[in-house]
Amino acid sequence: MGHSTSKSEVLFELACKVIPGGVNSPVRSFKAVGGKPVYIKKAIGPYMFDEDQNKYIDYIASFGPLIFGHSNQKIIDSAFAAMKDGTTFGACHKNEVKLAQLISQTIPSMEMLRLTNSGTEATMSCIRLARGFTKRDKIIKFEGCYHGHADYLLVKAGSGLSTFGSPSSPGVPDEFVKNTLVARFNDIDSVEEIFKKNANSVAAIILEPVPANMGLVLPDEKFLNKLIDLAHSNKTLVIFDEVVSGYRLSLGGAQKVFNVRPDMTCIGKIIGGGFPVGAFGGKKEIMSMLSPTGPVYQAGTLSGNPVAVAGGIRTIELLIESNPKIYIDLEKKARYIKEGFESEKINFININQFGSMLTFFFTKKKSIRNYSDVLSCDTNLYGKFFSSLLSSGVMLPPSQFETMFVSTAHSYEDLDYTIAKSIESAKKIGSE
Ligand SMILES: Cc1ncc(COP(=O)(O)O)c(C=O)c1O
Repeated sequence: MGHSTSKSEVLFELACKVIPGGVNSPVRSFKAVGGKPVYIKKAIGPYMFDEDQNKYIDYIASFGPLIFGHSNQKIIDSAFAAMKDGTTFGACHKNEVKLAQLISQTIPSMEMLRLTNSGTEATMSCIRLARGFTKRDKIIKFEGCYHGHADYLLVKAGSGLSTFGSPSSPGVPDEFVKNTLVARFNDIDSVEEIFKKNANSVAAIILEPVPANMGLVLPDEKFLNKLIDLAHSNKTLVIFDEVVSGYRLSLGGAQKVFNVRPDMTCIGKIIGGGFPVGAFGGKKEIMSMLSPTGPVYQAGTLSGNPVAVAGGIRTIELLIESNPKIYIDLEKKARYIKEGFESEKINFININQFGSMLTFFFTKKKSIRNYSDVLSCDTNLYGKFFSSLLSSGVMLPPSQFETMFVSTAHSYEDLDYTIAKSIESAKKIGSE
């Protein structure tokens, strides 16, 4: 059976007339991989179905939130029950306390936290607070790490920006990024150099402890420990952006896996169970600087939304119920894909995998440790690989610089099919 996408094509044409580029978030356009986006009609478990009735084994997982796959009935039931009591209050409610307690118990460094509507809001608010608390303006970020689309964070920010080739974004005045200093991931010397030139003026270092927005990159042994020590010796706060890794790598996020404690943490994605949400938190002393107890302003009409909160509570409860087995099983599945693929010797693809996340990098480099390694990849070949798998019913992220996510819903049959089609596609591309 051929892969017909005529209904999606019509929708995309209509979309392009009223939505810039036809999409509400750039990477969805498939521009980075060639071709046109497919329009999803419904999604259940590990599968997405498009308007032309094509079925895909999905590894995008909405870019991270769907650790239980699509349309998990227990999460839907919780959200639906909450919705019957009201969709938003703009007032306090019991469940926001419960979610905050659950988060604080599972990620102990988040002694206090505040809910937002997105990861972008979480990182943006967290940095404002870090600046307010330290009375310093500068921040350090790492090449290839993405922290949402706040102006001053759009510097060498991985994924979308790498995909579309802009080092930053027009519309961001130079003055807005002059306090953003950029270091190289896994290169502690590059951070030390910045501190030498900017003594007593760096409020915070923000990083994805396990970067997932330049494809998946792993921190070197002790890199995170060294970074925290270096920051603290400069009275600089460390912010872990665990919007992806939080509840994905373990119940306590990457900080639990690597046994380190940041001063502040941003989370999102999984804690909303598929609904829009984010959160930032950290030491009580810092969080108490937030309005109304302190002078640093931060707010949100829909923050703590009861429907999203109900979805988030159920998700975290389900994770707690099946911890640690769930994380062991998820890791096993992702490793199964990596090892299955690597059983064939294909020398132009290198897979990074950690927990339930993985990326097929199209490069002959033996190790991918930072953004410049990532930029050596052949995005053209990735595009061919993506298209070949798409037409075989496997949905990879539509960019070389994104990460694949395995969920509890993927069966070993799904994984075997994925491995077989990946090998077939890679061999085809290699012989062209
Ligand atoms: C690590 C990280 N931080 C922040 C964000 C921004 O989150 P949102 O898209 O919910 O604003 C993302 C989004 O992909 C992310 O991956």
